[in-house]
Amino acid sequence: MKSGKSIFIHPFLRSIVAASALVASLPALAQSFHNAPASSAALRDPYTGQQNAKAGQPLYRQSCAPCHGANAKGTGNIPSLASGATQAAKPGEIFWFITHGDVPNGMPAWASLPAQQRWQIVTYLEFLRGPDAARLTAAGNSENAASGAINAPPPTPPFTDFRFEKPGTIRKIAVQDLPAPFATQSAGNGPTIVPRPAGVWPQAPKGFKVQLYATGLDNPRLIRTAPNGDVFLAETSKGQIMVFRGTAADGKPETTSIFASGLNEPFGIAFYPPGPNPKWLYIGNTNAVVRFPYKNGDLTATGPAQHLANLPANGRGHTTRDIRFSPDGKTMFVSVGSGSNVNDPDTHPEEKDRADILAFNPDGSHMRIYAYGIRNPVGLAINPKTGQLWCSVNERDALGDNLVPDYITHVQKGGFYGWPWWYIGGHQDPRLEGKRPELRNKAIVPDVLLQPHNASLEMTFYEGKQFPKQYHGDIFAAEHGSWNRAIRAGYEVIRVPLHQTGHATGEYQDFLTGFVLPNGNAWGRPVGVTVAPDGSLLVTDDGSNSIWRVVYTGK
Ligand code: HEC
Repeated sequence: MKSGKSIFIHPFLRSIVAASALVASLPALAQSFHNAPASSAALRDPYTGQQNAKAGQPLYRQSCAPCHGANAKGTGNIPSLASGATQAAKPGEIFWFITHGDVPNGMPAWASLPAQQRWQIVTYLEFLRGPDAARLTAAGNSENAASGAINAPPPTPPFTDFRFEKPGTIRKIAVQDLPAPFATQSAGNGPTIVPRPAGVWPQAPKGFKVQLYATGLDNPRLIRTAPNGDVFLAETSKGQIMVFRGTAADGKPETTSIFASGLNEPFGIAFYPPGPNPKWLYIGNTNAVVRFPYKNGDLTATGPAQHLANLPANGRGHTTRDIRFSPDGKTMFVSVGSGSNVNDPDTHPEEKDRADILAFNPDGSHMRIYAYGIRNPVGLAINPKTGQLWCSVNERDALGDNLVPDYITHVQKGGFYGWPWWYIGGHQDPRLEGKRPELRNKAIVPDVLLQPHNASLEMTFYEGKQFPKQYHGDIFAAEHGSWNRAIRAGYEVIRVPLHQTGHATGEYQDFLTGFVLPNGNAWGRPVGVTVAPDGSLLVTDDGSNSIWRVVYTGK
């Protein structure tokens, strides 16, 4: 953002704030989209109309789709343009923002595109809310898929890309391997998602077999096994929680049920109290923790959602909220990602209580910060051996292909993990040069550094019996895959071997790969991992909208 003085507030929140007494205590609010000056709202498109939207589509596809997605629905921390703030903004404000961009947060400035083309893109974005939207985007998307295999030099180890991800390969990234910021350009390379071609299947190490457990889902995200062995799934965009029970002879669930719907972007799922007989099912909506009465065997909610605590969510930035309880059941942990790529919380009040792992009493009271400076801690898990909280984190973008590594780490109470001023220990973010020197020595180096931009999502500890002994107690994590890398990385499930010690050595291993085709198009994107009661590993995939089941057969 150009000026730290005025705050961008999502129009929806703005209306709530305006209606409350809070407004008196806040500084003068910018009433515009991304600090666009008031005059920009009056800017008029000289060439409106359907023709113009048609002309905007190929321009959108070329310049914007690589980050905002072919359907403009966004991905990761890149906002949707088909809904939300953009659809509420005035065309002139969008034109102004496109022209100026927000480079520190990864949005390029498009002043180099002729003004007419910028207006054509704005008109196209306006059409995305209209009745013609589906037809317009579908026509363009079919032309979007790449053809030939990617022909770029191999990556420099320890960094890699999808072409070299193979089940069983061990990787280790050390602090001294990090390149300087901006060693390469910041890429805009979101995936085009294509249907899985016939004969293409995820690849697991020798001795494992991969089956399709469930298909035809709607945005399957976090997945978690209940104490009685039922498997709960968050269909996040649909606002729904599903339950699967059992595995039939054909490898599919025996029972499928909708547990609850009408939720607000649900992600985190937790059973309380810990142990064999839970009484509640907790859900992390994007803006609140709610819970349903629950006992073993329930396939649908027996009562309405009870609201426990609001979570910071100003309508922008990272939306997932995972929930876990400490083994003694006294503390509820909730992960809340940042609202931006690298906005300084000192000058951006909307970052308050974000990029943190928050702690609460299980009834939602007494919110406090458990650990901070964690840009986007998507997945939480409790290490069964040590009882410690661990997390899986998306680090920042727009510093080049091989910065900043995502990570998986145990979380120290009160620990500071760098964001946004520092990264991976005492490396200063060049966009916040000179800020917060006193925090430098506090910034913790995480346990396991992953490929930068991997988008590490849910993680779980393997507590099953089916996989060979050397896997017991290890971590599995879903890597959704990069957009901010010239050649994509991630799009896999990884294993972090703990060698029965409960502690990481810094190494990790490719475990389930093959979701990207040789031409760079992706057909699958792992999001969630959980261990089924029979010890197989279930993996959700919001690219092909399915759940995969990885079974050890020893063959
Ligand atoms: C390299 C990736 C990249 C490309 C290419 C890109 N954007 Fe963005 N865009 C972003 C990011 C990241 C943000 C979020 C910035 C922030 O948080 O301030 C963003 C934000 C936006 C927003 C504000 C959305 C909101 O909800 O606040 C608009 C509008 C937008 N981009 C339009 C475009 C258009 C139009 C194009 C093509 C001309 C484009 N972008 C190309 C990365 C990109």
